[in-house]
Amino acid sequence: MLFLLKKIDLLFIVFVVIVVDTLLTTGTLHQQSKRNPVVLLPGDGGCQLRASLNKSEVPHFYCKEHTSEYSIWLDVGEFVPPFVNCFIENIRLVYDNTTRTSSFPPGVNITVPGFGPTSTVEWLDPSHESFTKYYVGLVNALVAKGYVRNTTVRGAPYDFRRAPNEAAQYFKDLKALIEETYYMNGNTKVVMISHSLGCMFGLYFLNHQDQDWKDKFIQSWVPIAPPLGGATKIIRLYASGDDFGVWAVEALKARKAQRTYPSSALLAPLQRLWAKDEAIVITPKRNYTAYDYQVFFNDVGYETGYELWKDTSPLNNEVKAPGVPVFSIHGKDVPTEEQYTYGDEFPDVQPKIKFGQGDGTVNMRSLKALLKWKNEQKQPVIEYEISGGEHLAILQNSTLHDYIINKVLQLNST
Ligand SMILES: *[C@@H]1O[C@H](CO)[C@@H](O)[C@H](O)[C@H]1NC(C)=O
Ligand SMILES: *[C@@H]1O[C@H](CO)[C@@H](O)[C@H](O)[C@H]1NC(C)=O
Ligand SMILES: *[C@@H]1O[C@H](CO)[C@@H](O)[C@H](O)[C@H]1NC(C)=O
Ligand SMILES: *[C@@H]1O[C@H](CO)[C@@H](O)[C@H](O)[C@H]1NC(C)=O
Ligand SMILES: *[C@@H]1O[C@H](CO)[C@@H](O)[C@H](O)[C@H]1NC(C)=O
Ligand SMILES: *[C@@H]1O[C@H](CO)[C@@H](O)[C@H](O)[C@H]1NC(C)=O
Repeated sequence: MLFLLKKIDLLFIVFVVIVVDTLLTTGTLHQQSKRNPVVLLPGDGGCQLRASLNKSEVPHFYCKEHTSEYSIWLDVGEFVPPFVNCFIENIRLVYDNTTRTSSFPPGVNITVPGFGPTSTVEWLDPSHESFTKYYVGLVNALVAKGYVRNTTVRGAPYDFRRAPNEAAQYFKDLKALIEETYYMNGNTKVVMISHSLGCMFGLYFLNHQDQDWKDKFIQSWVPIAPPLGGATKIIRLYASGDDFGVWAVEALKARKAQRTYPSSALLAPLQRLWAKDEAIVITPKRNYTAYDYQVFFNDVGYETGYELWKDTSPLNNEVKAPGVPVFSIHGKDVPTEEQYTYGDEFPDVQPKIKFGQGDGTVNMRSLKALLKWKNEQKQPVIEYEISGGEHLAILQNSTLHDYIINKVLQLNST
């Protein structure tokens, strides 16, 4: 009797082994126990850039004409006066209104290192100055859960100065990277995570793929701090420049480069979200709304800005549903600039700023622009708000990491 039972047990075990083996081979069980790999799209200023110079003339005697490859973004040394003037000269773009494309200044070559690995989107500075942390907090949190850099978590950096209309090669590379990541992880769907401007690129990318392709390769998309309706801050940047955030760069000097970026124009507040009579800029002479861009760019002395806006505003203007499950994460309750008042020195001074709701950089209505997708696609659209989650600092916030780990990747539920 005992002997018989054992024999049956053994047969049962053999049976189970065969079934599990078959499931593994066909991928049924395999898929469930596999982690969804992650591809990270950085935001504005969110990846490293390398430059090399071979110039025949320089604007200041202390600027270099010839260099081998060096880190131009980000290296604190670049911001030190007076060399910051060379930096601004090299990091600007030059617009050609016939071809409607931008190029590097003469003798400047800039490349985006590290497509595929995560290192250049984890830290903005190759020497890891602590204030240049970028995706590192999230990547570390994923690695603690068993993710592996370069295999199950990968980076997709791009030249953040440009807009999607000048990034055709990037989108090809991104598509190939997602497919490769899917196959090298046992045919497991990919979770796309993007931050800030990266959300404009992510949306544009998804809007230009077939539904069949998305169903096969994309598990979900996580737009973090998505400025899909633009940000008024960009209007101040076009008028008076911005100090690049934390560094001792004079805003008016930085303006010379920042104005030339198609990605800046892409982030101008969308007319669909700002009312016709809603002044964004107030000056003694006149007010400017989201419907006055032509005269605004003219009055701030940068007519090219209007050309850039015409090129880029159709790209994401519709804020069209991406056709994949969406987990939007953004901050709130951080004072966010909303309206600017200038005196007679407009635009060559910093304005008086009126603050409103948002994440400190992006206005609330823009962060919430994607909620209309709830009625426009059958896939779920879920919003998660983090009170006090500042636009950039939110990437290091453990509340965000936990949400991605538990709710998006569902790592603790299996
Ligand atoms: C630098 O530019 C000069 C003149 O345009 C050219 O002859 C030379 O080959 C360039 N050097 C490099 C290293 O590209
Ligand atoms: C292109 O730029 C030039 C010089 O700024 C200007 O004279 C011309 O009108 C522009 N052309 C178009 C089509 O905008
Ligand atoms: C720019 O540099 C990259 C990397 O060194 C090189 O492959 C490319 O050919 C260069 N482009 C130009 C226009 O010099
Ligand atoms: C990821 O790739 C980068 C660049 O190829 C390499 O420097 C780094 O060591 C790799 N990291 C791991 C964990 O394999
Ligand atoms: C500009 O906007 C402010 C605030 O909305 C308003 O008080 C003022 O009358 C406007 N000025 C003009 C010239 O329209
Ligand atoms: C993360 O966000 C939460 C919720 O707003 C906040 O309480 C916490 O202080 C933040 N943590 C960090 C490390 O910023």
